[in-house]
Amino acid sequence: MNILFLGDVVAKSGRQIVLEKLPHLKEQYEVDFTIVNAENSAHGKGITKKIYQSFMDAGVDVITLGNHAFSKGEIKEVMEDCPNMVRPMNLEPKEIGKPYCIKEVCGKKLAIVNLLGEVFMDCASGSPIEAMRALLEEIDADCILVDFHAETTSEKEIFLHVFHQDICALIGTHTHVQTADERVFNGCAYISDVGMCGVYDSILGRSVEEVLRRNVGHEVTHFTPAEGPSILCGCLIQIDEKTGRATNIFRIQERPEI
Ligand SMILES: [Fe+2]
Ligand SMILES: [Fe+2]
Repeated sequence: MNILFLGDVVAKSGRQIVLEKLPHLKEQYEVDFTIVNAENSAHGKGITKKIYQSFMDAGVDVITLGNHAFSKGEIKEVMEDCPNMVRPMNLEPKEIGKPYCIKEVCGKKLAIVNLLGEVFMDCASGSPIEAMRALLEEIDADCILVDFHAETTSEKEIFLHVFHQDICALIGTHTHVQTADERVFNGCAYISDVGMCGVYDSILGRSVEEVLRRNVGHEVTHFTPAEGPSILCGCLIQIDEKTGRATNIFRIQERPEI
């Protein structure tokens, strides 16, 4: 089973590169299932139903989110109409949307779970470890992939060591910078962060000029997505269909010619 996971899609340029490259990526890597973290897809923060539908139409199977899940308020009203979208389990309001979904892939039940880290993440509501333990009591799946949306590499590695026997993949998101630490640990595929699909000449997808005015010049500014060609970041996870355990993970990164 080949699972393609693409990291945080940031704004219009990020959406465009995903939609443009997805058919080729699916063919090149013989992808059986595609997961995209789209927490920044609507102008850098959140997602809309229209954007969700554009990913579905392009052949994405499941959308995951993060701390910006509800940044576009309209999504709260229509989340029930987006069955292939999961939002972090430990993020308020917990009654809207769902924290995991289960899909049939290559004859196996694959669960896709979304969780927030709690280190340097003010919006996290409760411990992700406790949330995951509670989830394991109720979940009925052959293999479980977790999008762990967190700031620090240490919290992600701790999560791996607590749950590697219970899950087949722990994919880090949120920092927008791809790490080079991918590995399979006792049958669990791991990477601290898959990186983003967003403007290459930017600061985490934001306009460099705007971020400098804010962080160096101490001006009050809004979140402004950068403009220009995007980098595409993700990974391919290979799962043994007999055992439900990961056998391989490798990084995918396509940079624009600048
Ligand atoms: Fe993000
Ligand atoms: Fe995030």
